[in-house]
Amino acid sequence: MSKNILIVTGSDYSDAVYQAFYDVKKLGHKVYLLSDGSFEPKPEVFEKHFRYDLRKTKETLEYMKNQKEKFDAVTIKTSEWLTPLVALLGKQYGCIGNEPIVAFNCRSKYHMRQILEKGGVPIPKFKLCKNYEELINGIREIKTPCVAKPVGGNASYGTFMIRNDEDIKNLKENYENSIKFLKEKAIDGDVFAFNKEEMDLIGVNDHVNMITDYLVEEYMDGHEISIDSFVQDGKITMMGVEDQIRMTYPYFMQLAARLPYIYKEGEKEVIQKLLEDTMKAMNIKNSATHTEIMFTSKGPKIVEIGCRIGGDDLHETILEVTGYNLMYESIMIALGIHREYDVKNNCHAMLKYIMPEKNGTIKSIQIPEELKNNKNIFNIDTIMTIGDKVGTPPERFDYIGYISGKGKTPQEAEENVNKAIAKIKIIIE
Ligand SMILES: Nc1ncnc2c1ncn2[C@@H]1O[C@H](COP(=O)(O)OP(=O)(O)O)[C@@H](O)[C@H]1O
Ligand SMILES: [Mg+2]
Repeated sequence: MSKNILIVTGSDYSDAVYQAFYDVKKLGHKVYLLSDGSFEPKPEVFEKHFRYDLRKTKETLEYMKNQKEKFDAVTIKTSEWLTPLVALLGKQYGCIGNEPIVAFNCRSKYHMRQILEKGGVPIPKFKLCKNYEELINGIREIKTPCVAKPVGGNASYGTFMIRNDEDIKNLKENYENSIKFLKEKAIDGDVFAFNKEEMDLIGVNDHVNMITDYLVEEYMDGHEISIDSFVQDGKITMMGVEDQIRMTYPYFMQLAARLPYIYKEGEKEVIQKLLEDTMKAMNIKNSATHTEIMFTSKGPKIVEIGCRIGGDDLHETILEVTGYNLMYESIMIALGIHREYDVKNNCHAMLKYIMPEKNGTIKSIQIPEELKNNKNIFNIDTIMTIGDKVGTPPERFDYIGYISGKGKTPQEAEENVNKAIAKIKIIIE
């Protein structure tokens, strides 16, 4: 029987994601899009494109309620900030998926920590800080080294480490710089707060400001991985495990990644168990998930979890490495179709982020045509364009784009990406 599927997004999709929509349509279903109208999707894919200012959660729900179309499934690819809206829409139409409060608990790092703590999942000590005074006191309580991060952030925006008294001296400036950047992002970017009414609608008891509230956390040492997994009818399947390479302190922006992660002995089972405990504590149901884990000297701990597919190149990389299209699978899960997976790694992939070398305005980005036809380079994406303001921490937390390559070994994948990245020219003035 033909089903109506609503896809919610904050940005346009890659060809691989569009392929998922074509495949779903071939099954006889109708696919609809709800976006903020910031792009024009490929023609003749979506039955209808609903456009609304998606930062206004309650208004968007009303707007959709007034449409004549009703939906059998609502899902999302990656737009982290829209996951509570997806859950609210799903509830409005009686679809399967996460409860709105579950999605919110993934969005608010403070609520996430509270729930994981209650569920006995290993996490660092944490403290909510609503202003500079509370931040200073939070740091004294948690003790250095610690990390300060915005409750509703993503992509490590405004996240920094406080190692010692020297860092405390710079704290006010770092904190104010970060809040300024986050507020800018909240106007024209991918961060926003929920208002009081919206939090009540979601069922949040303890209201937070997603932009200006900070969390201070005990510093976790060790290296970090991320796991894209599906939860269906209580079963958790890991689809891709990424080995992350990040800036060294005091900032945490991701620089590169390898996939698949090469497990040390016994690690796979430990990760699987940690995921099971995390999903159970968070009450995540019939959903894609993206979980970050840090291997600390006191054992693995959860950095965070999102109820969505991983961002940047992860969709393309996991497709390239395993053959699974995560968008297609997410739609199947949202439709309640039982899935069985046999995940095998066919190659090794390497991602490198293209970062600004200095603060300024992008004057030109030159990507040679040959790179677009290079079979070892399967994805090049630019997030920024000419005229965009970019910069590095402590002032800004920007990525210009990223590039992904593959090879038979991790080394070969890295060499292929390095050769390609050397050919990209970016001028910042
Ligand atoms: N308590 C912590 N200890 C050490 N590093 C941390 C801690 N919290 C966050 N980080 C680092 O900062 C990054 C961003 O934090 P995260 O909670 O994942 O927020 P975001 O939503 O911005 O990705 C993490 O991937 C990790 O590298
Ligand atoms: Mg993260």
